[in-house]
Amino acid sequence: MADTETDAGVDPAFRRDVLAGLEMRPRAIPARWFYDLRGSELFEEITELPEYYPTRIERSILDEQSAAIGDAIGGGQAVVEFGSGSSAKTPLLLNAISPAAYVPIDISGEFLRESADALSADFPDLPVHPVEADFTHPVPLPAAIADLPKLGFFPGSTIGNFTPPHAVDFLRAMKETLGTGAMLLIGMDRIKDEDVLVRAYDDAAGVTAAFNLNLLERIDRELDGDIPLDAFRHKAVWNDMLARIEMHIEAVRDVEFSVAGRDFAMAEGETIHTENSHKYGPRDARILLRAGGWTVTREWTDEAGQFALLLAEARPEVTAP
Ligand code: AVJ
Repeated sequence: MADTETDAGVDPAFRRDVLAGLEMRPRAIPARWFYDLRGSELFEEITELPEYYPTRIERSILDEQSAAIGDAIGGGQAVVEFGSGSSAKTPLLLNAISPAAYVPIDISGEFLRESADALSADFPDLPVHPVEADFTHPVPLPAAIADLPKLGFFPGSTIGNFTPPHAVDFLRAMKETLGTGAMLLIGMDRIKDEDVLVRAYDDAAGVTAAFNLNLLERIDRELDGDIPLDAFRHKAVWNDMLARIEMHIEAVRDVEFSVAGRDFAMAEGETIHTENSHKYGPRDARILLRAGGWTVTREWTDEAGQFALLLAEARPEVTAP
């Protein structure tokens, strides 16, 4: 039984998602729960792996094409970053344009303030207004930027974590947050050779495996679980029909365990689905954005077309063709 001390620090939404997800068929736990302290560290390690190309390529596009990006965007906007995390790519954008303010939005308040302070140190003349909020819903923006034009920034291909219907809901929420007339710069990973995709999510050093399996350790620790880690392995597969990499945690033998006082049994080969990473071809990306209320006006890619940065505009909704 969980003691009160353990329970006090537990996020009730984590408990609810894990218990509901283990009861579901197929079993599935949302990817957002990867990111405890250890998970965030492992993700940082992933971004440095030779096989994990998205971070490196997106940075190189921002860096090498900064003049063209700056010309297309102009200056004077409030840059609103969704899920800003460590704001690692933000300086590349801020240097490419001449923004009037920066508004990082993140769910983790502590992380948010730390990164905002670090950024302020590098851009002492830029007003920074951090907002602690769940960016998947419309977020009220600080009054100080009310009169500025808005540029949303959503790098990293994080949009790929959402299934297309949820991605559309989320894009519409961003439009509501930023308003008609706003611009959006968004990173999207492209469909490519299956081997390249699978290796990016199943690296030789086993960092992605550790990242995925860390979820079980987090469940054991925070939800008083007794899941035997040696009964599970990391699995990454390309689902071609749905154009996505899926990460699963697969039972390598029949196994029984309990979480928060509830008993579960999994048969050998059964999996817990932990993440989707959708990939989009050039036209897929434009249509997805269009469905979410954003019209693509420019796009930049690396030479091999492995990753895309798209610039879109929130135009007024019209019903006529
Ligand atoms: C942070 C969602 C963009 O899907 O590529 C990396 C997360 N998962 N390796 C991605 C992730 C496994 C990443 N995103």
